[in-house]
This record gives sequence, structure tokens and C-alpha cells, in this order.
Amino acid sequence: MATTPQWIMVGGDGPESYSQHSSYQRALWETAKEKMNEAISAKLSLDLISDRFCVADFGCASGPNTFVAVQNIIDAVEDKYRKETGQNPAENIEFQVLFNDFSTNDFNTLFQALPPGRRYYSAGVPGSFFGRVLPKHSFHIGVISYAFHFTSKNPKGITDRDSPLWNKDVHCTGFNEAVKKAYLDQYSADTKNLLDARAEELVPGGLMLILGSGLRDGVKISETAKGIMMDFIGASLNDLAQQGVIEQDKVDSFSTPLYVAEEGELRQIIKENGKFTIEAFEDIIHPNEELPSDPKILAVSFRASFGAFLSAYFGEDTMTKVFELVEVKARKEFSKIQNAKPGMQYLIVLRKN
Ligand SMILES: C[S@@+](CC[C@H](N)C(=O)[O-])C[C@H]1O[C@@H](n2cnc3c(N)ncnc32)[C@H](O)[C@@H]1O
Repeated sequence: MATTPQWIMVGGDGPESYSQHSSYQRALWETAKEKMNEAISAKLSLDLISDRFCVADFGCASGPNTFVAVQNIIDAVEDKYRKETGQNPAENIEFQVLFNDFSTNDFNTLFQALPPGRRYYSAGVPGSFFGRVLPKHSFHIGVISYAFHFTSKNPKGITDRDSPLWNKDVHCTGFNEAVKKAYLDQYSADTKNLLDARAEELVPGGLMLILGSGLRDGVKISETAKGIMMDFIGASLNDLAQQGVIEQDKVDSFSTPLYVAEEGELRQIIKENGKFTIEAFEDIIHPNEELPSDPKILAVSFRASFGAFLSAYFGEDTMTKVFELVEVKARKEFSKIQNAKPGMQYLIVLRKN
């Protein structure tokens, strides 16, 4: 069985890059800012804010969203310190930010774009966040933004045509019960490993702030705009196979290592893991509602997120053709996207037990 390629974003800062097409994810940070400030103010112990304060972003990509995320956190920590001690944080606290992603992530673009005038020291931390990437007790607040829906690999049997678990779709649409269970089991095991690793790396009482896309209970991803777009990617790959551009076998043995969980599933996984207390679970209303309202921008933004993964499997030419077809489909069926069931954008605040 082929190994699952690493799911990195399109690097650089060119017209097709993630750094140019991630304003949707960034907007959630603006909306969630107040709730995040409240959580830091109420749930972070003042004792943890001392001379050195460390923030770690897991799945940081190549910017610029990670800079917004960590700056918001640092502002909130400084604010709390100023209010509760009456002292100037700039005189007493040094901040460090640890940027984690796969080693194949475009860290060069990230470091070249570090905001001038920032008040923190930076370091890159390469490696999969499903395992330990940092020493014990090395950071005070961790953040995961739009990276809490990945699995470490496709579940067993999913890409094997001869298996009863074979997934004819390119992602877990939610409509096939057996496929959904296989994905949920894989997601649950991976997410528990992720939480175990962060629990070791966080200082006692430290916080994890998790922002991302989920589903309200009972909603299937393919009933939402995001799922419909992923279905278009699958349909486009099948079109190319029918045209003889790629082999049908290759499409049949392709699936995506991600699972967009329902709120109840997320709560249960965190509870079963037992290392963290859920301090807040907010359903954030995204200012753009579901997704950008132009089929071309939609196709380009999905390309920025999915393009590098598809290229690793099918090659760049095929990936480019796929997204040309995705744009046509999105344009043709735009009303379906607009009338889709809403997904959910969440802010989860976890405190280490
Ligand atoms: C959709 S991007 C989100 C980037 C950024 N946090 C934001 O909010 O815009 C997901 C990021 O998670 C990273 N990622 C996925 N799986 C990972 C893993 N197992 N370990 C570390 N990073 C991972 C990808 O490389 C990618 O940069």
C-alpha cells in the first residue's frame, strides 16, 4: 500500500500560494479574538506569566495567519499581566514563539515574512504534531488553527478496491456508514496521540486554543459547501480518468487523510483522552458565512489548500487540470453551494489537567 503523502500547503507567496489564499481562515481569528481574550484572561493563571512566556503554533504553514494568531495571544497575555499586576509587560516578560509544521513546509517564506517590530523570538519546529516535537513543559499556550481535522494516514482498507471499506469517494462524505466509522476511528486515535503529546509539552495549567472547521451534530460534510467542493475535486478526477488523462485505478486508490468531526465527536475524543478540560467550545459565526462567494476564488482557495497534496499523488499538470474543472463545476452548481447546510467554525479552549 502506498504511504500517504504529507498534507502541506502550496508554499511561496505567489498567486496560487496558501499565504495569498488563506484570508478565510484569518477572518476567523478576527471574529474569535474577543472570546480568546476572555479565555486567556479567565483561564490562564497569572503565575504562569513570568519572565519567559512561550507560545507554540502547530501546523503554522507559511504565514501570514500564524502571525495574526500568535500576536493575538501575546496581546491577550500582556493585557492580563498589565491589568492584574499594574506592571509593564515589555519590561518584565520575554516572549518566544515556536512555529511547528512538517519539515517540507515552506519555512523560508514563513521566516522571511516575520512581522518587523514583533516583540518575540522565533524558532521553527519541524515534525508531525501527532508525536512529540518539543521537550516536556516547554510552552505555556499552544494553538492549532485549521489543522485539527487531519489524520496521520488514510484508514486501513479505504484505498483498496478489494476491501469492504473501499471508499469510492475521494474523502469521507459522511454518507457511507462503514467508511465514516473507519475515518472516525483513525481520527480519534490520531487526535488522542496529538493531545497526549501536547499534554507532555505544555506546562501544568497551560492552554491549547484550537480553531477550525467542524460539523454540527448530525450534519454530513458533503451536505455543506466545503464537502460539496471536495466532491467536485473527486468528480473532476473521475472526469480526467474517463478522458484517459489519468488511470481510473489511481483515482480509485486515492483518498484524503482528513476527517471533519461533529461537535459531539470532538467533545467525546477530548473527554476520553482525559488530559485536558474543555474550558470553552464556541460555535463562531464566520464573517464570510461558509466560503468565498465567487466560484473562481473558491477554486483557487481550495487549490491553495489541496493542491500540493494532489500534486504529490497525481503530478502538477493533473492537479492544475483538476482545479480548472472544479471551477467549472463550482460555477455551474453555485446555487447548490449557496444553499448547502451550514458547517461550524469552532474555538475550543483546553486547559491541561
Ligand atoms: C490549512 S493549513 C493551516 C495553516 C494555519 N494554521 C492557518 O490557520 O492558516 C494546515 C497546516 O497544517 C499542517 N499539518 C498538517 N498535518 C500536520 C502534521 N501531522 N504535523 C504538523 N503539521 C501538519 C500543514 O502542513 C499545513 O501547513
